[in-house]
Amino acid sequence: MIDLLMNHVSIRKFKDKNVERDMVDIIIQCAQMAPTSNNLQTYTIIEVRDEGKKKELAEIAGDQPWVEEAPLVLLFCADLNRSKEFIKVDNPQIFGNAELYTVAVVDTALACQKALITAQSLGLGGVIVGGIRNDMDAVHNMFKLPELVAPLFLLCLGYPDQNPDLKPRLPQNIIHKIDYYDDTRDRELIEEYDKTMENYYSKRSSKQVKVGWTTHCQRAFSRSSRDSTGSFLRSIGFLNR
Ligand SMILES: Cc1cc2nc3c(=O)[nH]c(=O)nc-3n(C[C@H](O)[C@H](O)[C@H](O)COP(=O)(O)O)c2cc1C
Repeated sequence: MIDLLMNHVSIRKFKDKNVERDMVDIIIQCAQMAPTSNNLQTYTIIEVRDEGKKKELAEIAGDQPWVEEAPLVLLFCADLNRSKEFIKVDNPQIFGNAELYTVAVVDTALACQKALITAQSLGLGGVIVGGIRNDMDAVHNMFKLPELVAPLFLLCLGYPDQNPDLKPRLPQNIIHKIDYYDDTRDRELIEEYDKTMENYYSKRSSKQVKVGWTTHCQRAFSRSSRDSTGSFLRSIGFLNR
């Protein structure tokens, strides 16, 4: 298990080979066994078989070809609709509060990570694609999602047809603090990590420009602010109180 976890890399190129049905069932079963807040199970997973929908999702995600090419594409949705429909609550307004939105997002992410680990243990590889949040409204309509169901990300899976290098993570001392938030060495450690990532990105790219982690993040933040996410979520009943 530790080997599997320590060797995680996202896979974006797949062999032309389908994922067997019993594998899909095990992946979903293990995802369902992820811990879930209060056993509320506030998510829905939609398997995308329709090739036309995969193509549309790839475009919405900003032309990410692996979405179309992956033999198995799972759409992970935060889902409070089931709770609202089937559970009698004193105050149905609670479904619009930030706490329950957080619960649903965390539940969904945990289930997705479990699905990915399961797939990897079966020799598959894959990538999570949050790019579909470029147009949540379009995805919501495409899958006929009801109110209080938010499409968060895809998990694209298949047999790997590439073997990328591991992507180095931040020095452990930055993300692991003891007893209080001691950030005295963070700047120095981030500078060190910037160099590590400069090296990593320069090996992956043919361009000679030096890009470290901070520049990479700066670009990511300015590229995808997705300002419509809040209003979309409110329009389907989340986060409106
Ligand atoms: C919530 C989430 C959304 C992501 N969205 C995308 C995406 O839209 N496209 C993509 O190629 N990778 C996406 N990724 C994968 C990350 O880029 C990747 O995990 C990160 O760069 C670390 O690389 P590694 O997974 O190979 O270790 C996403 C990952 C997460 C957790």
